[in-house]
Amino acid sequence: MKSDFKPKKNLLHVLNGGKSKTPPIWLMRQAGRHLKEYMAIRSKTKNFLEFCYTPNLSVEATLQPIRRYGFDAAILFSDILVIPDALGQQVNFVSGTGPVLKKISSIYDLKKLTSNNLHNQLKPVYKAINIIKKELRKFHAETTLIGFAGAPWTVATYMVEGGSSKNYQSIRRWAYEAPDEFNVLIDMLVNTTSDYLIKQIDSGVEVIQLFDSWAGVLPPSQFERWVIKPTVKIVDLVRAVHPDIPIIGFPRGAGMLYERFVKETNVDAISIDSTIPLKWAVEKLQDYCIVQGNLDNIALLTGGRAMELEISNILEAFSNGPFIFNLGHGILPETPVSHVERLVELVRSA
Ligand code: CP3
Repeated sequence: MKSDFKPKKNLLHVLNGGKSKTPPIWLMRQAGRHLKEYMAIRSKTKNFLEFCYTPNLSVEATLQPIRRYGFDAAILFSDILVIPDALGQQVNFVSGTGPVLKKISSIYDLKKLTSNNLHNQLKPVYKAINIIKKELRKFHAETTLIGFAGAPWTVATYMVEGGSSKNYQSIRRWAYEAPDEFNVLIDMLVNTTSDYLIKQIDSGVEVIQLFDSWAGVLPPSQFERWVIKPTVKIVDLVRAVHPDIPIIGFPRGAGMLYERFVKETNVDAISIDSTIPLKWAVEKLQDYCIVQGNLDNIALLTGGRAMELEISNILEAFSNGPFIFNLGHGILPETPVSHVERLVELVRSA
């Protein structure tokens, strides 16, 4: 271990420009259905959004993976779809189907949304952050608290398609046919998301991650307008209030466009998905920012030799630069706890 290496706040240490000998680790969707203790508290509330808006439950869900695995970061337990909900769009989580929203398809529909109640509706989230911070300080002082939001493009896909989508036809047609009209929605999301993230930071989160899970469906011209530009605006708005907050971008599926995303958005760290070749990421991304990623969630689900080989390739590739170990996308509900334990053990002994 290097003499200047401070194990305390390992993840923040890396995000503030340091390099640690064993990389910090946390996993996207580390809380949730792969944990039996989550299923136990989840069964108390039928409605998922109600679960997210009940501080005692969201605090508990946030802390469960920290108690079990001792990750370097806790991620606030919530969902990206609290923003459309707080804007007044009807949002339901239907078990077996996923999110179902009352579709928005015109400027007329947009006029029905309002940000007047945003912070009032999201108060339970800010309250949960306060409590999580206190709990972490007491029992897990080395754990960094990450806040998050969905990026405008990804949140808009759910708002316009009315839920998860296969080909994103409605939203992509709207964006081509009437870009200025569609931009009213994107701008509304830029502003509310920035305000929401600023409040999360005011309440105690130490890092933020922007999830753009469906960035990868766009060709370069559209990626520039609907992924890069809104991200730049959010980064600027948040940093105008909190200049030092580390920001992690996650334009999932962006392929070669990851390079432009990093150079043009000025994020502190880039979360890469599992399709990105390691050598390419080292050469094109790690010189410019911290890399986070990118174990295939199916490799984690599979476990054994196959998983161990993937882990060691990732550790070897990124160990010479600033790096945070994570998955390429969220942990799957069927993932055995023992595989996650083995992963943590391997990363910590690297
Ligand atoms: O542990 C964590 O990472 C924190 C919690 C978290 C959730 N959702 C909890 C959740 C985070 C960071 C998210 C982000 C999120 N939500 C994204 C971006 C990341 C990604 O996975 O691409 C997206 C696209 C959503 C939207 C969403 N939420 C969908 C499509 C679904 C249904 C499908 C599914 O995975 O169940 C959700 C529900 C959801 N969000 C659950 C959890 C734990 C499951 C709901 C339940 O327990 O009943």
